[in-house]
Amino acid sequence: MAQNEILRQSPLREEPPGVFACVADGREHTLRIQACLKLPVFPAVASKLVLELNAQNVVVSRIVELIECEPRIAAQLLQVANSPLYGLARPITSIGHAVVILGFRAVSQIALTLIGARLFQDSPPKFASLSQSTYTSSLAIATLARNISKTVEWGDPDEAFLTGVLHDIGKLVLLSAHGSGYDQLLVKEDTGDITQLEREKFGLDHAGVGRLCVQHWGLPAVMSEAIAQHHRPLRQVEDMLPRVLISARRLAMRWQIGFAGTPPPPPGLQAEDSPGDAFVEELDTNELQNRCREQFVALRQACLG
Ligand SMILES: [Fe+2]
Repeated sequence: MAQNEILRQSPLREEPPGVFACVADGREHTLRIQACLKLPVFPAVASKLVLELNAQNVVVSRIVELIECEPRIAAQLLQVANSPLYGLARPITSIGHAVVILGFRAVSQIALTLIGARLFQDSPPKFASLSQSTYTSSLAIATLARNISKTVEWGDPDEAFLTGVLHDIGKLVLLSAHGSGYDQLLVKEDTGDITQLEREKFGLDHAGVGRLCVQHWGLPAVMSEAIAQHHRPLRQVEDMLPRVLISARRLAMRWQIGFAGTPPPPPGLQAEDSPGDAFVEELDTNELQNRCREQFVALRQACLG
């Protein structure tokens, strides 16, 4: 039975938006409702942007208006648009100008990226450090995902970027649901398979929770499926967006971009580790590494100040 069908039939389907959960049992190919998790609410402006992006006839002026109503987001968006991430010859001076130069999809996705950052920044103070490090590594993986998408000429680089930003959002949900219990589990992330530990302790992992969040927010299914697969071994994944995301994560760790102080895992330790994968090895060039590092430094400055 398809996951969406199970969710439709779930007794929790009448719950208010933001409250539902399911868990996939991969061995038995069944889906079971296991617990109630409170998924973060996507800010209203973000939901409206998603609606505009999914509309048949996009009203570009509406997108500009929505972003301009959020001065902090608008200011940060101009910083990002003018950063080395886009490598523009002339500066972008307004949201309308950004739409003309970058296109409404790219501008909307940058705005969603910045709004997504708030979800990390608004976590409880005692988990601020963990949220910050998760967001920083997510920004790095997003930067690599965007560059890899361009390098292999697959899909929409800005969609890859937004997927990278949100790929670990499930950690925040588990953190808010389980508090210190999850905090202590994450300490073991560098030395073990975090998703297995999560499934053992909570019945579901942060990749599955992330998929629920992104589905719940109405973002494209290709993004939620990529997020669901981001800890799987690359050789088992066929679709390009999850392959881009998994490669970005592997290379960000290898190159120590956004993972400062976190030693790369020893080969063969993690379930997804597969050092000989040709897709990743072909991407491992000094040129790509230097470009991603420069873009990440500028982006971190724009997003985190
Ligand atoms: Fe993850």
